Amino acid sequence: MRKIFVFDTTLRDGEQTPGVSLNAAEKVEIARQLERLGVDLVEAGFPVASPGDFEAVQQVAKTLKNTAVVALARAVPKDIEAAAEALRESASPVIHTFIATSDIHIKYKLRSTPEEVLERAVAAVKLARNYSELVEFSAEDATRSDPAYLRDVFAAVIKAGAGIINIPDTVGYTTPDEFAQLITYLKENTPGIDKVRISVHCHNDLGLAVANTLKAVSVGASQVECTINGLGERAGNAALEEVVMALQTRSQLYQAQTDVNSRQIAFTSRLVSSLTGVGVQPNKAIVGKNAFAHESGIHQDGMLKNRNTYEIMTPESVGLTQSQLVLGKHSGRHAFRAHLTELGYSLNEEELNKAYQRFIELADKKKEVTDRDIQAIVEDETQKIEELYTLEYLHISSGNTTVPTATVIIKHQDELLQEAACGDGPVDAVYKAIERATGIDVYLESWSIEAATGGKDALGEVTARILADGKSYIGRGSSTDVIVASAKAYLRALNRYLQDTASNRPQRRKAAWE
Ligand code: KIV
Ligand code: ZN
Repeated sequence: MRKIFVFDTTLRDGEQTPGVSLNAAEKVEIARQLERLGVDLVEAGFPVASPGDFEAVQQVAKTLKNTAVVALARAVPKDIEAAAEALRESASPVIHTFIATSDIHIKYKLRSTPEEVLERAVAAVKLARNYSELVEFSAEDATRSDPAYLRDVFAAVIKAGAGIINIPDTVGYTTPDEFAQLITYLKENTPGIDKVRISVHCHNDLGLAVANTLKAVSVGASQVECTINGLGERAGNAALEEVVMALQTRSQLYQAQTDVNSRQIAFTSRLVSSLTGVGVQPNKAIVGKNAFAHESGIHQDGMLKNRNTYEIMTPESVGLTQSQLVLGKHSGRHAFRAHLTELGYSLNEEELNKAYQRFIELADKKKEVTDRDIQAIVEDETQKIEELYTLEYLHISSGNTTVPTATVIIKHQDELLQEAACGDGPVDAVYKAIERATGIDVYLESWSIEAATGGKDALGEVTARILADGKSYIGRGSSTDVIVASAKAYLRALNRYLQDTASNRPQRRKAAWE
């Protein structure tokens, strides 16, 4: 079996999903989980893009011990130097430099010539090699580039020291057969290509990212670039969980395997969804809520007789267990901690205490506390946001013949800010009251709610997305009371905004009652 390297770019291309912005602590948390998942490379960010991205790459580089950490850089010296500096403490650094090779990009975007682009590509790889043993070169928009020119560029960068050549389908334009032809042509005609790793990076504009990636593997690519839940620019990137499970389920067909521990997939998907605020569609392959659900009678009958009738892989193989938490409200912290470790969490003492407290409260209210509830609680209590404003008190009055009214008390440093407001509905009233109390005026872009589990007593998980100073910020909150969950989500989105603009934090307006 051939080994296929898995290059995860959730923290870089995935973070380019509209509205998604991860801070350094969140990136580190996801990176740790990606290491547990067993990917070979984690692309942590684009260090020159912003001080925040630089710091995130630096922290991920310091944290990961067994996984290569990749930093992106245009074929520009200052980008490569920033990437090298951010990766300085990585045990296994990889600089990933790129430049576009298609005529349309060269002419209109770069306002350059093919000759100049080739020179810049070579110079970038040579410079990057001064800092990093392993350098990846990507020919952006490769699938719309002239194959002969692409061959020349790859031959030149291989000679300059690139160890991985990446063939991106940047705009999701190619098809499996055409992509296979291009890769075969490059394999047969590029001097030195047999000494380097061939990587592919497919976008999903035509819904073909996974199919193109798998086809590339079948004609000799040995690295796949993917994101968890298929996050990424526009329609996203090839979904890691789909590529990995296709290779695992059809390993005989592909004669290939990855080192990914597929049992960590469900947890990783959930963590990424929670920290990015981007939900997973129910019918999404592998990680969607319905991916292993059998609805029709005929299917259920078949499943009862033999699971293989309608199941090509087990839910357990991707880490989905039906397990109900065997702990109850009388369980001790020790057992709770042990169960969290089993689920893949590692909490510090303070986080553990808070999560345990919430668990006991929930166990009091709910008949059954499931692993999914525990995940919702832990994610709620361990959000890596500086909580500048927190909810102390909330009261609403609402109904079909009343004007929805909310009173809130918000804690800010040592101050308690009390305000009340009316709204179109209880959530609107609460958000208006919070706006008055904090003095921060933002636009609510979207609000959504999901029940963590079935049942009337389920935890409600709210995602609120706000728009402030032209940027989107996401907050999530969970509670058995959906209005409380809504208030928490909104405050977290506000806190995230304030954290982002820490240096020019808005002055709070005086509340009406002060
Ligand atoms: O899609 C793309 O071309 C990229 C490159 C930077 C690899 O993301
Ligand atoms: Zn991309």
